[in-house]
Amino acid sequence: MKPASRIRSLGSCLPPKVLTNAELEKIVETSDEWIRTRTGIRERHISGPDEYSSVLATRAAELALHRAGMTGADLDMIVCCTISPDQPLPATGCIVQSNLKATKAVAFDIAAACSGFLYGLSIADQFIRTGKAKNILVIGVEVLSRYVDYTDRATCVIFGDGAGAAVVTPADSDSGIYSTQIRSDGSLAEFLYIPGGGTHYPATHHSIDDRLHYIKMKGNELFKVAVRSMDEISRKVLDDAGMRAGDIDLLVPHQANQRISEAVRERLGVPTERIYANIDRIGNTSSASIPIALDELYTQGRLKEGMNLLLVSFGAGVTWGGALIKW
Ligand code: UT7
Repeated sequence: MKPASRIRSLGSCLPPKVLTNAELEKIVETSDEWIRTRTGIRERHISGPDEYSSVLATRAAELALHRAGMTGADLDMIVCCTISPDQPLPATGCIVQSNLKATKAVAFDIAAACSGFLYGLSIADQFIRTGKAKNILVIGVEVLSRYVDYTDRATCVIFGDGAGAAVVTPADSDSGIYSTQIRSDGSLAEFLYIPGGGTHYPATHHSIDDRLHYIKMKGNELFKVAVRSMDEISRKVLDDAGMRAGDIDLLVPHQANQRISEAVRERLGVPTERIYANIDRIGNTSSASIPIALDELYTQGRLKEGMNLLLVSFGAGVTWGGALIKW
């Protein structure tokens, strides 16, 4: 089997402000020790007022385009994966399109939470496979700090802000995307959600007073489904690509919780040195976490031709996904 598409270049953007566990200790009843041992997180980046989603997304995209030797004008499509858009209307992807002067690109948003980037990658692969598009920008961007309740210690310690972007183009060799798999189960929607601000509970004084515009999470329940689903989809992706866990050179999981990543790694039987983790510095950036991790690997010179990367994610919806890429 030959791949249809490949990631040609990557870029990312983190807002400069860092929020440490020590600072969180002053805001809610928590401790650096609890956060580190239960999640693996030491610090996360938090956006300032002018660093909203389209701003971070545009910076990450400009870097990826520059590395691909392209400009916005070369793009056929922009898939902007986010659950923290600039505003309800229009799509953040359209704002990014305007920023990049990507005049011939069709642009839209995908709301698949932490699985967003893998949904976007899967969409890009399908459009390239059918010949409907050539140059596709897939962005994962979140500014979840705007939706985090800094009185709720169970969620405020986890999330961080950031953006990652990938330029996806037709494959011209054995390197490329060998498999993508995406899944959803809406019956578990209330495991992780923001009740207010939409058409069910529109923004009112009442919805604000009741804190309905903040993230609510059943962390414990999510944890178990996350491990099970990420394990299952990893096996499906490997099967699809005709590979086994022993063929994986690098496992790049969505950075939700270091204990989740470790449990998935262990179930798959991937050696410790073959998993990538940056959750200690970046926290959980939802749809941005995998492209940020890939961009870090690229800048560290760790992505070598012929390496097999297994990407796997799980998030609100619930949604999950996997991808097998030969670099
Ligand atoms: O991005 C994809 C979607 N998100 C996820 O996949 C998240 C999955 N879940 C998790 O990462 C973990 O469940 C959490 C990190 C959210 C929580 O860790 P946990 O080990 O599952 O803790 P828990 O919810 O079972 O809570 C254990 C205790 C509770 O106290 P009691 O009832 O035992 O007295 C909590 O109130 O820890 C308490 N607790 C905290 N203590 C200090 C919860 N949050 C904190 C905190 N600091 N920040």
